[in-house]
Amino acid sequence: MSNKTILILGANSDMAKAIANEFKSNRFELMLAVRKPKNDSEIEFDAIDFAAHEAFVKNLKTLPDVVVTAFGVLTEGDEAFQSPELSLETTLVNYSGVVSILGHLSKAMAQRGTGSIIGISSVAGERGRGSNYVYGSAKAGVTAYLDGLRNYFFTKGIHVMTVKPGYVDTKMKAHKPTPGVVTASPEQVAKAIFRGYKSKKNTVYVVSIWRWIMLIIRNIPEFIFKRMSL
Ligand SMILES: NC(=O)c1ccc[n+]([C@@H]2O[C@H](COP(=O)([O-])OP(=O)(O)OC[C@H]3O[C@@H](n4cnc5c(N)ncnc54)[C@H](OP(=O)(O)O)[C@@H]3O)[C@@H](O)[C@H]2O)c1
Repeated sequence: MSNKTILILGANSDMAKAIANEFKSNRFELMLAVRKPKNDSEIEFDAIDFAAHEAFVKNLKTLPDVVVTAFGVLTEGDEAFQSPELSLETTLVNYSGVVSILGHLSKAMAQRGTGSIIGISSVAGERGRGSNYVYGSAKAGVTAYLDGLRNYFFTKGIHVMTVKPGYVDTKMKAHKPTPGVVTASPEQVAKAIFRGYKSKKNTVYVVSIWRWIMLIIRNIPEFIFKRMSL
């Protein structure tokens, strides 16, 4: 029996590299999609080149068994405030890019009748916060989209898993120190994703305390929350 294949979109991300290693060590063949391919084994993919997404899927040498969306950009609240253009780009990459490429991939997977879709969203999508309100709104959209896709595909043989990693020690977070106990390594994320994929989980919180942190955050009354500068 031939090995399964995994397509990783945004394969230069630190998390993506760890995910690639984890699946490779579990005998998956890798298909790595990046903005600027460095060799023939990488496939060109830009999340906001929407017009190219249909051809991207058609031209894949094989339709993968598993796809992971690992691309993203983080925009802080002040940066978003200063630049409406950057705000728009943040939503296009983080939200519209996911909807566009997964739209084409999920259609092809549904025609085949099998497949797993793994989307990396964020706990940032669970409540709007001043510190990253545009990024958070895009991730809220991604989470709702993946939830809906899972529901839509439940009887069609496609598994959809949402990943909410919490803080992860990657270049995306390199500009700001994050608290050690609630920060995962990319390798921890990769192992949690592989376990979740094997057991067909719906949602994975990599560091489980985030589930409880976000439960509290979601339940703080707005009149208090807006004074907290989170
Ligand atoms: N780090 C965290 O704490 C954290 C927490 C929760 C969720 N996440 C999410 O986890 C995922 C991976 O994040 P990370 O921390 O591993 O980030 P990272 O190391 O900063 O990598 C982000 C990747 O996204 C790619 N990218 C950006 N714009 C793109 C576009 N238009 N088309 C294709 N690729 C594009 C970048 O490609 P280039 O290499 O070409 O620049 C880069 O490789 C993201 O969705 C992120 O939002 C991260």
